[in-house]
Amino acid sequence: MSEHLEKDFEIKKLTTFKIGGKIKEVYFPQNIDELYEVLHLKAQNELKVFGNLSNTLVSSDGYNGSIILTTKMDNIELSGTRVVADAGVKGPKLSQFVAGKGLSGLEFMIGFPGSVGGEVCMNASANGQAISDTLVCATCYSPQKGIIKLTKDELEFDYRTSRCQKEDLIVLQAEFELSPKPIDKIKSQMEDNLAFRKAHQPNLTLPNCGSIFKNPQGDSAGRLLDSIGAKQMSFGGVKVWENHANFIVNNNNGTSFDVLSLMYKMYTAVKKEYNIELEPEIRFLGGNNEKENEICQILYQKTQK
Ligand code: EPU
Repeated sequence: MSEHLEKDFEIKKLTTFKIGGKIKEVYFPQNIDELYEVLHLKAQNELKVFGNLSNTLVSSDGYNGSIILTTKMDNIELSGTRVVADAGVKGPKLSQFVAGKGLSGLEFMIGFPGSVGGEVCMNASANGQAISDTLVCATCYSPQKGIIKLTKDELEFDYRTSRCQKEDLIVLQAEFELSPKPIDKIKSQMEDNLAFRKAHQPNLTLPNCGSIFKNPQGDSAGRLLDSIGAKQMSFGGVKVWENHANFIVNNNNGTSFDVLSLMYKMYTAVKKEYNIELEPEIRFLGGNNEKENEICQILYQKTQK
């Protein structure tokens, strides 16, 4: 297993935000058995599991603990209209794979930089489709029960959340039931989704982390933020993207403190104007910087991630 462990790993090169300091230990298991082995090396609360860090801000001051990245667990198996994907399979790869087999249901994943595990955990959605629409069951690791298989109902999906977030379950594998459809129709839907994404979201040449805040019930975080002038806001090396107010782009070697400070500015302005407390959609990994910890106490008071 030791060959899959990196020490004092510079995480910046792997995060889509291009931000993040050194992480004391990063494990890269290649399959479920290896992941299980790693999880038993330490007490559960000493290990955090991440997909490919497309939805995570890592502190520029690093993280003193151990994490597991599922990026190398990327097996896909197909049987009829059922597909089973490991947690580390990237959204676009899975979307392309099933499209090529004439199976519909995962067209929305084409524009997602994230991996299947994270997408199940947060019930990723876009363009009118959500992961919970086609998911049948997921194999998860429970700190209390070990490896368990949960059905869609047991996963308690809701907007951008699932039971995994409440109970710290780690998604290892997900099984989907898809519908046969002509390949050209699936591909054309995927092209539309990509075109939508290109028009509405910054691509990764402008390092970013996707939507920063969740949409509050019945409203849009982007619309609220836009209305209070967020598109003019910046802090240090980061700024709000000029075409959508719920994105932050790292345009000038920004740090995690810059991102959190800008998030705090955005949060405070919306709270003042509308008395709505936006909840971050992105996760944060850090702990070494007092000022960052203070901001996180406020931003993550409802969703301790
Ligand atoms: N709007 C503004 N100003 C802005 C941004 C948006 O007025 O600066 C308005 C739009 O005009 C629209 C409404 O707000 O009327 C909603 O905006 P949009 O259609 O862009 O969708 P969204 O709610 O901001 C959600 C997801 C995206 C997903 C898209 C497409 C959340 C937090 N975001 O965005 O997910 O791709 O719908 O389905 O639910 C992600 O999570 O990383 C992500 C990109």
